[in-house]
Amino acid sequence: MKRRTLIAGNWKMNGTRQAAVALAESVARSAGEARASVELALCPPFVHLEAVGGALSGAGVELGAQDVSRHPHDGACTGEISAPMLADMGCRYVIVGHSERRQYHGETDEIIAAKAAQAMECGVIPIICVGETLDQRQAGQTAAVIESQVGAAVPSPAAGGDLVVAYEPVWAIGTGLTASAAQIEDVHAQIRALLEKRLAEPAHLRIIYGGSVKPENAGEILSLANVDGALVGGASLKAETFLAIAQAAKD
Ligand code: PGA
Repeated sequence: MKRRTLIAGNWKMNGTRQAAVALAESVARSAGEARASVELALCPPFVHLEAVGGALSGAGVELGAQDVSRHPHDGACTGEISAPMLADMGCRYVIVGHSERRQYHGETDEIIAAKAAQAMECGVIPIICVGETLDQRQAGQTAAVIESQVGAAVPSPAAGGDLVVAYEPVWAIGTGLTASAAQIEDVHAQIRALLEKRLAEPAHLRIIYGGSVKPENAGEILSLANVDGALVGGASLKAETFLAIAQAAKD
């Protein structure tokens, strides 16, 4: 089975409600051609999920969140958003374990695995982020870091459950630096080999790349054998560049 390419926009902490709706509407308006062969998703801040979901309605562009609570139920967790709430809001995806959450919010692989498990339980597909820092790459530790993150942060999905892993080298996020095609393919092939052993249905696993993906480099990255899409930060804040990346995936 051919894995469907996923191009997901991680809007991070950007924009007013009005700007979010305008961006979503403009993606929705022009998404038609790309989404025939590529799956598109937008991940706005929590407070804009409902408005962006409304703007995307009927456009065939999926909604995603940027984080989820590891706690399953309604209860005393001030500030948290649960997986059932995301499902209720119409989210198909949720990003978990982004390096910014690992770095600034102390998220460990164990917390990330618990969050991903909550999402899967509610039918929300987790996009689980892994990736090495520059120091780790320069010290030759990339493969070991990836093996340990994938081992601890990726729960085994229930049969039939979809799963997305995003390889995002920390040094390539928001820096303009992109990993080379060989570096990306190496790590993606490693992740696939690690997870295929564990998954009942490996065809349900997609491995996407993130880190300064833009229209100019998307074609090369997305043509790699084990790259099933992209997690796009900065370039997802303009409909034009986001859709140009989707177009590159299609070509
Ligand atoms: P970037 O961000 O495309 O701006 O590098 C990617 C990400 O953090 O998911």
